[in-house]
Amino acid sequence: MWAGYPFAIDYREDRGHDYMLDDQTYTKRQLVVKQPGTCLHCHASVYVPYTILGKNDLFRGFERMNQMPFTEARKYVQRPITCIDCHDPNTMQLRITRPAFIEGIRSLKAIQGIKNFDVNTMATRQELRSFVCAQCHVEYYFRGQEKRLTYPWAKGLLIGSIMRYYDEYAVKDWIHKETGTELLKAQHPEFELWNMGIHARSGVACADCHMPHKRVGAMKISDHHIRSPLLNINRSCQICHHWSEEELKARVKTIQERTFKMRNLAMDALVDLINELSKAQKSEISVEQLNKARWYQRKAQFYLDFVEAENSTGFHAPEEALRILAESINFSHLGQLALRSKNQ
Ligand code: HEC
Ligand code: HEC
Ligand code: HEC
Ligand code: HEC
Ligand code: HEC
Repeated sequence: MWAGYPFAIDYREDRGHDYMLDDQTYTKRQLVVKQPGTCLHCHASVYVPYTILGKNDLFRGFERMNQMPFTEARKYVQRPITCIDCHDPNTMQLRITRPAFIEGIRSLKAIQGIKNFDVNTMATRQELRSFVCAQCHVEYYFRGQEKRLTYPWAKGLLIGSIMRYYDEYAVKDWIHKETGTELLKAQHPEFELWNMGIHARSGVACADCHMPHKRVGAMKISDHHIRSPLLNINRSCQICHHWSEEELKARVKTIQERTFKMRNLAMDALVDLINELSKAQKSEISVEQLNKARWYQRKAQFYLDFVEAENSTGFHAPEEALRILAESINFSHLGQLALRSKNQ
């Protein structure tokens, strides 16, 4: 499904925050394409480097680093994420430091009727307990020649809204090697999918599950060892749910197994479409018919990838994840029908 794109060369599981800079520096995806400095926005402590590059203007620094080749930009950063990326060092209050999120959340709030949203003065504390994570755990693309990191939320966070945004601006990440289709690669839309689930709906933040409170002597602190909540069910879930650990684990597993099975069905359907499409290209089929099937490949691929690239395997929003995969299967099916219909 990713033929012709660096993700077909090297694509691994995520791991702890401390590895973010090394894993990005050494992925084989760096060897097959020249990546831009934009990549570092979510993989390094960029606040100080941005302000230095921008001569005290965070956004100017962001723009300058985006346009550098990765290897040059890499020299300006030293560390993976640090305290000041989420905290104001003077007050220790939560704060947002990432330009792409500041712009993205402003465009999202605008369609919800809130004008000129300034995240650092207008967000509630509970919002910030998710927004600090949404600085990075989101779908993104590089806009234009200047490779500006952009979060595609100006029409909303639902997958259909994001798809419409990309179609309107004719965004493509690459062209499929076997079918010639202009495609999109979805990446880690944790914030978007969480937003569609019962926990977001009930006001439960990323930090509630991934940074649960723990006692150290007389103090109650937030666990900064950010990882799978299943390693920590007692503090991550049982604060709110009075089911046993086994029961909680079983509920998560059931959701994840259903999602994974449906994801495999969607992948098989997409690969069938890709095979049929690449064969059809060599036949006497009309360009209109081919393009119609390509249009469906683009949708089937992005929908499937949206759940595939999301790291909770459906848990953050179980029904929505299954709906998206079912739609993907339908798009693959419609793509095949487009190739087979005679009267076009
Ligand atoms: C919007 C923030 C953001 C940007 C920009 C970004 N990443 Fe990531 N990256 C993440 C997050 C979050 C994860 C962990 C979740 C995951 O692996 O899906 C990750 C994981 C990774 C990983 C480890 C897992 C894997 O995919 O093999 C690599 C390598 C990586 N990114 C490379 C890159 C490169 C290269 C770029 C630039 C083209 C880039 N990243 C741009 C947020 C980002
Ligand atoms: C500066 C960008 C950034 C921010 C902010 C950020 N993350 Fe991440 N996160 C990443 C990247 C990149 C990775 C993957 C690192 C790798 O695989 O090398 C990751 C990995 C993870 C993992 C996988 C850990 C593991 O052990 O497998 C979890 C869980 C996670 N992040 C949750 C969160 C939560 C919750 C927040 C907010 C409290 C958050 N992240 C804030 C970029 C970020
Ligand atoms: C109700 C609790 C809950 C909330 C809220 C929540 N998550 Fe999760 N998250 C989970 C569970 C459970 C998993 C699955 C862990 C597993 O499979 O080991 C998970 C998985 C993840 C992973 C992959 C972890 C890994 O080990 O690879 C990331 C990254 C992540 N969540 C980020 C986020 C972000 C960002 C938010 C907010 C936008 C969020 N989560 C909100 C419970 C939650
Ligand atoms: C990915 C974002 C993130 C990073 C990085 C981060 N924190 Fe936090 N921190 C949080 C969140 C979320 C809370 C909970 C704040 C709240 O509920 O108001 C928190 C809370 C705190 C608190 C208040 C007491 C508590 O534990 O609730 C202190 C102190 C703190 N962090 C220190 C640090 C230090 C020191 C570092 C660097 C070693 C750091 N943090 C890195 C997100 C982060
Ligand atoms: C801060 C409170 C809070 C935390 C922490 C929390 N949840 Fe929830 N959870 C809720 C609320 C509220 C609902 C909505 C249903 C309700 O009102 O009971 C819910 C719903 C659920 C449901 C769906 C129930 C259904 O059938 O609709 C599951 C499954 C679930 N949670 C599992 C977990 C797991 C696993 C964790 C830990 C990773 C967790 N929750 C952490 C508050 C929480």
